[in-house]
Amino acid sequence: MHEHATPHTVPPVKTLQGTVAIPGDKSISHRSIMLGSLATGITRITNFLRGEDNFATMNAFRNMGVMIEDSGSVVTVHGVGVHGLQEPGDVLDCGNSGTTIRLMTGLLSGQSFFSVLTGDQYLRKRPMKRVTEPLRRMGATIAGRGNGTLAPLAVSGGRLSGITFQSPIASAQVKSALMLAGLYADGATTISEPTLSRDHSERMFRFFGADVETADTTVTVRAGRELHGQEIVVPGDISSAAFFLVAGLIVPGAELLIRNVGINPTRTGVLDILQQMGGDIVLQDQREVSGEPVADLLVRHSRLKGIEIGGDVVPRAIDEFPAISVAAALAEGTTVIKDAHELRVKETDRIAAMAQNLRAIGSGTIEESEDGMSITGVETLRGGSVASFGDHRIAMSLAIAACASRNGVTIDDVSCVSTSFPGFFELLAGVSRV
Ligand code: S3P
Repeated sequence: MHEHATPHTVPPVKTLQGTVAIPGDKSISHRSIMLGSLATGITRITNFLRGEDNFATMNAFRNMGVMIEDSGSVVTVHGVGVHGLQEPGDVLDCGNSGTTIRLMTGLLSGQSFFSVLTGDQYLRKRPMKRVTEPLRRMGATIAGRGNGTLAPLAVSGGRLSGITFQSPIASAQVKSALMLAGLYADGATTISEPTLSRDHSERMFRFFGADVETADTTVTVRAGRELHGQEIVVPGDISSAAFFLVAGLIVPGAELLIRNVGINPTRTGVLDILQQMGGDIVLQDQREVSGEPVADLLVRHSRLKGIEIGGDVVPRAIDEFPAISVAAALAEGTTVIKDAHELRVKETDRIAAMAQNLRAIGSGTIEESEDGMSITGVETLRGGSVASFGDHRIAMSLAIAACASRNGVTIDDVSCVSTSFPGFFELLAGVSRV
């Protein structure tokens, strides 16, 4: 829990009606600051996510000499070029953001200066060996707690050599860390993953003019090209839209139009899963924005049924399992989630957190397994008191469960919601009919 916990009670609603504009995609917002900084010329970013995680990335680059202006509607990055970053004068604080610390560790490995990365109490517990180990193989000098497996991490940048790395996990953070290091390595840096994780880095590297080749689940980056500043329009974050999708499905009579949502195929597992559960979700006005596919999503209350979830869809829905578990808690029959061990090392252990919290608000039988859980649905949830464990997505999942509960849900601390979705509670209240 944060030092100053902010408890919040979400009451049950009669129904949900209206239109929701989802804030910008977190992953794309991080990468737009990073590549904009490494480009020559100016990058203008609209619909940038003004969440704490993205401000951590922004501040890190400001601390390395990049001028970044934020007018409130447009973020302007004055790129310094691939070799233009300066040694930061202080420790870089990544806050709660795994994407910031892991991608920056890769980028900083190739600089000609020293830097230290740290984060909040949750981030300092998350595994870093998955990036430090392959980066060391590229020649990086990284020190850190537990022999470089936990932050704080100290990076003494230097010469890197490209490697061919077979990643044991489908992780966009691991892939992107090595891709960024690859911009500084001698020779080619090739990363293969067991199934394709989100490919925003590949798309954005290409958009900025980097030398990147993709084939199947393999990406190769070569150094040497100059990157050029771009105009970027960030699509709405499907991981944020997921809360309104599930809310629209579980609340009787609900109908919501969720506008401007990124539907990159490496991110749409949540749509496949909810539709397979019987969810009525219609994609409208499909279009492309800054190299990313976008649509409006129309969602209506639906009778859901339990399904089995595992395999390749898991990385395509990895951040949506807290919300999906709420849908499962109100579906007919049992939903089984497997192959999702990564959920145990997110902002918190999301399997344990959702199992405990769903039980606390009157769910049916829940069984945890090492790599997932099974959830048997009930007609309605009672409501009650729950714990966010400082995890934004746990807090928001329980807020939507509250909408469909009899008595409402009190969440012990919702301050974490601002890491990815500032304005979430106001948007939810705006479409709630009580
Ligand atoms: C992200 C990758 C995913 C995801 C996270 C954002 C990214 O993490 O869970 O919220 O922007 O690259 P992993 O790479 O650990 O799967």
